[in-house]
Amino acid sequence: MTVQENVSLRPFNTFGVEARARYFAVIQHADDLRRLMDHSVWQQQRLVLGGGSNILFAGDFHGLVLHNRLSGFEQLATDEEAVVLRIASGENWHQTVLRCVASAWCGLENLALIPGSVGAAPIQNIGAYGAEFQDCCRTVAFIRLDNGLPEELSVDQCRFAYRDSVFKHELSHIAFITSVTVRLHRRFTPNLRYAALQQYLQAQQISRPTLRQVADAVIAIRRSKLPDPDVLGNAGSFFRNPVLDAETAQRLQQLYPQAPVFARDGAFKVPAAWLIEQCGWKGKRYGQAGVYEHQPLVLVNHGQASGGELLTLARQIRESVYQQFGIRLEPEVNIVGNGQPWPELKEK
Ligand code: EPU
Repeated sequence: MTVQENVSLRPFNTFGVEARARYFAVIQHADDLRRLMDHSVWQQQRLVLGGGSNILFAGDFHGLVLHNRLSGFEQLATDEEAVVLRIASGENWHQTVLRCVASAWCGLENLALIPGSVGAAPIQNIGAYGAEFQDCCRTVAFIRLDNGLPEELSVDQCRFAYRDSVFKHELSHIAFITSVTVRLHRRFTPNLRYAALQQYLQAQQISRPTLRQVADAVIAIRRSKLPDPDVLGNAGSFFRNPVLDAETAQRLQQLYPQAPVFARDGAFKVPAAWLIEQCGWKGKRYGQAGVYEHQPLVLVNHGQASGGELLTLARQIRESVYQQFGIRLEPEVNIVGNGQPWPELKEK
């Protein structure tokens, strides 16, 4: 394990923006991390980087980047009903899903084609098409960066919520996630809760889909709606869907009867994509930064956008959604290298 200096981060973020890391180390074994702790660079500010698919470098990173390349996939237990797997955090998420589908282990198929690494899944509790990481997660193991000690949390201790977990709060910048364990079923019960998935399968005249067919449907829907980061730089949804209380949701629906509002567990979710589209942002550009023409929740790099340009565009979107609807959009993507990224929104 060597520590490189002044490394370009362009190949390590799916937005494809240029930024530099003062120090950069590739972590292939947990021991690499322990060795680094005795190195003088350890005193620097640190950033754990997995697949770089949920991050915007708004400027250079002046500290030490720990690039997670831990690998491993092991079957811990199996019975007639289920299999429990331990998967290293540096493994690619989508390849992991495909591997499980090929083995007829069920539970991850609705999360196919999500970019990024396995270690990122628990941090923001990745979710799509009616499923979330928390549904199959059993434990998350990590090494504490403040004292080097290993720890493991049960699914309950992870405090998963919509795009949220303990790793975004108390353990943010402290936990280097090393592996997760998941429990997958041997019997397939399709999860067709998400209307778009159901409609897609109906259109294909598939009434009793197999595991493979559900995975393929999710892949096809994602490909039709979301840009491929290898072609057009992006980090998926830039903002979270806002969760409203009953009063705010009712007010929104009075003013905008056509507003799509989804009730869930006593709260109300309104698609950020809809709010952004209503403000006229769909397909708009700011320099080389843009709003994706088919899904305005996704910001894209048309080629040479800087992180600063993308951040400016995101701020403008956030400001106009607040002005029109009084709703604060919160980023889903992590912003690095720009002090305080979100200015206070001016009261309306
Ligand atoms: N919509 C519009 N205009 C558009 C697109 C969508 O108004 O151009 C509205 C429609 O009302 C539509 C609704 O948004 O019914 C929902 O759209 P979509 O099904 O595309 O999902 P989303 O809520 O925009 C979320 C996740 C995605 C995930 C999809 C599918 C968040 C922040 N995003 O998007 O996750 O793939 O659902 O489950 O929750 C990601 O996190 O990076 C991501 C892509």
